[in-house]
Parts: sequence; structure tokens; C-alpha cells
Amino acid sequence: MSDLTTKLLEANEAGIAQAAAIWQAGGLVALPTETVYGLGADARNDQAVARIFEAKARPSFNPLIVHVPDVEMAKTLVHWSETAEALAKNFWPGPLTLVLPIKVDSGLSPLVTAGLDSLAIRMPAHPVARTLLQAFGGPVAAPSANPSGKISPTQPQHVIDGLSGRIEAVVDGGACGVGLESTILGLLDEPTLLRPGGIPAEELSNVLGTDIQSHQAGDAITAPGQMTSHYAPGASVRLNALDQMDGEVMLGFGDIKGDLNLSPDSNLREAAANLFHFLRRLDAGETKAIAVAPIPATGLGLAINDRLQRAAAPR
Ligand code: TXA
Ligand code: MG
Repeated sequence: MSDLTTKLLEANEAGIAQAAAIWQAGGLVALPTETVYGLGADARNDQAVARIFEAKARPSFNPLIVHVPDVEMAKTLVHWSETAEALAKNFWPGPLTLVLPIKVDSGLSPLVTAGLDSLAIRMPAHPVARTLLQAFGGPVAAPSANPSGKISPTQPQHVIDGLSGRIEAVVDGGACGVGLESTILGLLDEPTLLRPGGIPAEELSNVLGTDIQSHQAGDAITAPGQMTSHYAPGASVRLNALDQMDGEVMLGFGDIKGDLNLSPDSNLREAAANLFHFLRRLDAGETKAIAVAPIPATGLGLAINDRLQRAAAPR
């Protein structure tokens, strides 16, 4: 499937209706969320979900996040808990994905969970995502809308650059506000951080009143997005650089200026929103090597450093 004409749909009534109709017919539509653009399909339709894996060239053992318009729909898909309720009250809609036991009668395609008996689920906050999910009225499976292993898209043009000809449409919701994927929290037994992301883990601990276990390096891969090489630009990436070496372009932060600066004011929220977009810009053309200034490992900085380490990992 690489002969489709990928349409850019406006986020107005007509565009939303078209997008929902494409999902209904088993097609693929990329949608804006507050984190990154997702590549959505009807999560109950085996063939539609299979096409997500095909379009991204994603290993089929890597399960997908299901997106819902409201908590009621979530409860029809997973075994809800008091902990889930408390977290949803505080952080949904928003960049938090919960992993919960899937219900046997969820009706979801088994391809979504890649055979696991748990489901990753979230309710996005982006107004266009919410309107679209409501218009469609069903669960939407959506990984980030990039070819597997590459940088996640934070603008509609990024989606087109990576997936044009492989998907029916992209809904234009402008640039994503958060810019980093959702935080993934496992709730199968003790709350476990499976992927740092848009909501810092300490905010989750504060609501739960308990510490959150961290996934240990070397543990079995329970969120395969934790594969070491991921978010990989074409150029090599050198971290914690204080200055530029010969032939490098530089991604700066704060006082370390660089060719592009994630946040001259050292604001981590701004840095997160710029990260993937700036990596793409620096990776364009003949660039062979990218140096990246140190980013503080606190709050959102943990998720930023996580993505940068994967971008820098040997491949
Ligand atoms: O912000 C986000 O989460 C974006 C937007 C589009 O919602 N989505 C996203 O999806 O980042 P993706 O597929 O790129 O990353 C999903 C991660 C993968 O690492 C996958 O392994 C993990 O979620 N995952 C999915 N289902 C899981 C499950 N049942 N248990 C553990 N991890 C799971
Ligand atoms: Mg991804």
C-alpha cells in the first residue's frame, strides 16, 4: 500500500466527518493529539489495525495505545480500578496512558495488544482529537504517526514526510503543544513507570501518595518503545555536549546557544515542545552529526533525556 493519495483534511466539520468516515470504512487517518500525531484506525477492525503495522513497518509484537473520547468507553475495554479512577480524575484528558487488564469482551482486535492480556489506553486532550473520537464513537488504535524507529511527528507536514502514499488522510491540528509522547503507567500490580512522558512521574506519585516503581534496564521489555534505539535521526547524536566539534550541528539549551536552541530561557516545557521538530530540522540535508547540550534531568527533562538517549543509541 504505497499508492494512496494522502489527503490533508482541515479540522472543520466537513474534515472531521470525512476522517470519521474513513475510520468507519477501515482506513487510516493521522490525528493531532497534544503529545504527537497518532496514526489512527478502528481498534475493532483486524484489517485496519494490520494496516497500521504495515504503514509504519512496525514489528507486530509491539502493542498499540487505544484512544477513547471518555472514561465510560475506557471502562468497557479494561478492568477499571480505584487507582485508575484517581489518575483519570486528575490527568484525563491528557498525556497519561494507563496499562490495565483487558476485558475478554472488549471487542478489540487482538493485533492491538499483540497478544498481551493488558491494554494501554488514554483519553487525549487535544480538542481536535476529542471531537474526532466523539464523531467516530469507537476506540481508535494509534501509535505515533512515524515510520517505526524514527522521530515522532509534531506537525502535519512531518506525518506527510514519513507516511505519504501509505495512509488515507491527516487531520491538520497544527503543532502539538506537549511535543513528547504520553507517560505510560502500568497498573497491573504496583504502579510502574513504563515510559516517561508528558506528565512527570512525581506528579503521578503526588496523586497516588506512593512511590512509582521504575522499569529497570534489563527487565523484560514490557513497553517495546523502550527498545534502546528509537526516535533515531539519520545523523549520529552526541549528548551532553558543551560545544561543537568539527562537522557537527548543535542543538542548544539555555546558555549553550547552538544552531537551534530548545529553550533559551531553560524552560523544559518549551524544550519538550521543540525537541522532535528541531531534531528533524537539524537532521535535514547533509548533516552527519548532531551535538546536543545538557538538559536537566528533572520534571519533563527526564522524558526529554529518555528520548535523546534513544536517539543517540548505537544502531
Ligand atoms: O502520546 C502518545 O502516547 C502517542 C499518541 C499518538 O497517543 N502514542 C504513542 O504510541 O506514543 P506508540 O505506539 O508510539 O507508543 C506506545 C507505547 C509502545 O512503546 C508500546 O510498546 C507501549 O506503548 N504499549 C502499548 N500497549 C502496551 C501494553 N499493553 N503494555 C505495555 N506497554 C504497551
Ligand atoms: Mg512511537
